[in-house]
Amino acid sequence: MRVASFGLAVALMCEMVSAAAPTPHDVEGPFYPDALPADIDDDLTTIHGHAGRARGERIRLGGRVVDTDGKALAGVRIELWQTDAGGRYIHSGDPLPGQRDPDFQGFGVATSDEFGRYRFTTVVPAGYASRPPHFHIRLLRGAREILITQLYLPRHNGERGIDASRLSLREASQTLRLGRAADGTLTGDFDFVLGNATPP
Ligand SMILES: [Fe+2]
Repeated sequence: MRVASFGLAVALMCEMVSAAAPTPHDVEGPFYPDALPADIDDDLTTIHGHAGRARGERIRLGGRVVDTDGKALAGVRIELWQTDAGGRYIHSGDPLPGQRDPDFQGFGVATSDEFGRYRFTTVVPAGYASRPPHFHIRLLRGAREILITQLYLPRHNGERGIDASRLSLREASQTLRLGRAADGTLTGDFDFVLGNATPP
């Protein structure tokens, strides 16, 4: 009996160690598009029918959607909205003066595959007011919202992003891991972890 209890305790401890913390919720903010663009695919740098490409530095976002045990969650709809390289949302109420980039999609959708994987191609958003550059994210299963959060970009190229050496635990759990693809394009990896409070 005692051996069984000890084994159970070890198993629970191992599970605690291996389980990942759920991705924190964050505020939706006021700029979820009030009218979705006609093109809502996972490449925000091009708009169907436009010859031009979005201004700004390209970044490929990608990762997985998993539960706290690391199990892949397929079929999750991931919505991304963000500013263009000039700091403007596609929302009609964005107060920043000037014209937004007409070739930037501003909003996109990806769906996690059988391995939980997703990816977006977009540009590095500009920060605005006192806020560092960030991506807004909403996850849905069917029509059901399961997570709203924001992702941060570590400082790179000497100017943009937050200081990765001074993150709170919460900020660290919402920050992309930056890298470079073979062709030199900036990459940002992030795994969305859904906990019991946000079951698939
Ligand atoms: Fe924002």
